[in-house]
Amino acid sequence: MTLKVRPGIMEIAPYVGGESSVPGIERPAKLSSNENPLGPSPKAMAAFRDAAVDLHRYPDGGADGLRAGIARRFGLEKERIVCGNGSDELIALIARAYAGPGDEVLFSRHGFLMYRLCALSVGATPKMAPEKDLHTDVEALLKLVTPATRVVYLGNPNNPTGSYLKAQAVHDLRRRLRADILLAIDAAYAEFVEDEDYDAGVELVQAGDNCVMLRTFSKIYGLAGLRLGWAYCPPSVADVLNRVRGPFNTSAPAQAAALAALDDVEHETKSRIHNKTWRDWLARTLASQGYRVHPSVGNFLLVEFADADGADAFLRSRGLIMRRMGAYGLPHCLRITVGTEAETKATATALAEFAGRPARAAAGQ
Ligand SMILES: Cc1ncc(COP(=O)(O)O)c(C=O)c1O
Repeated sequence: MTLKVRPGIMEIAPYVGGESSVPGIERPAKLSSNENPLGPSPKAMAAFRDAAVDLHRYPDGGADGLRAGIARRFGLEKERIVCGNGSDELIALIARAYAGPGDEVLFSRHGFLMYRLCALSVGATPKMAPEKDLHTDVEALLKLVTPATRVVYLGNPNNPTGSYLKAQAVHDLRRRLRADILLAIDAAYAEFVEDEDYDAGVELVQAGDNCVMLRTFSKIYGLAGLRLGWAYCPPSVADVLNRVRGPFNTSAPAQAAALAALDDVEHETKSRIHNKTWRDWLARTLASQGYRVHPSVGNFLLVEFADADGADAFLRSRGLIMRRMGAYGLPHCLRITVGTEAETKATATALAEFAGRPARAAAGQ
């Protein structure tokens, strides 16, 4: 007699996070997980420390104070917000609540890996729509809709491609999807986007009862280690997610730090400016070295290589850890997170050397 695992589970390749060490190198630059190179807000760190005296208490299960803070900051309705242990948990809860065996979960070919993983973990069938030049293709998604489709995940902006769908295209997608299909807009990188034709999805959430927007404190707020994400939902979806989430799914120190991070607008602005400055500088510099760099509105760049494994090994030998992209069906690419100024310049210098070009191009801004 052996234990029986539910169908779909053994098809899951366990998620492998960005690596953080290189044998023989003491402090490598971890540019593999799209983290904030400036670190957390000092205010968030102070709130986290202050929360230590109450660690014997259970957290506020409804994350009341944090939800009020999010609502205040973004002009939203508190009752529609559900917090999660990272937006990863919310992606999983959506699959758990709305899909199961016999159902289909749809997303785009190079969409964030968790969409596939969460579909499989509930026994649903993942369906991947082809992309156009690493952009989500609305027509291709719609072509794959069947009577079994229950959830569509849309990474907007998407990781790892760095591309986004304009607000009009997202509205178009929602309008043309059946009403009984939930559109989950994963806007983990929304705070980095400055393009006027982008919208994170608030309006769509408010306009009906079948669209959810997911956000996170892991990226611009620099709190990936604390695991805090939030969903903005129609009331009926918030009700469902509150039923399936754990009663204390976000910790008290995480709630406190996230609330303080929201108030530190200066740190957020500094992070956004840093990201734009060095992302655009790195994109220009690598392009001038002959690399194909995909335009990105996030805090990372997807770069093509004739020999991505060779490039990865070369960068590691210089203490620079990137993310390999085989799991995303992009084995010829590396994803490079925007690091500190020094890390970004070191990346450009190393890649100039790898390309066999003089490192001069990487010297100045
Ligand atoms: C598109 C996207 N969604 C969600 C997440 C998960 O973020 P969190 O740390 O909030 O679980 C990530 C993390 O890299 C991401 O890239």
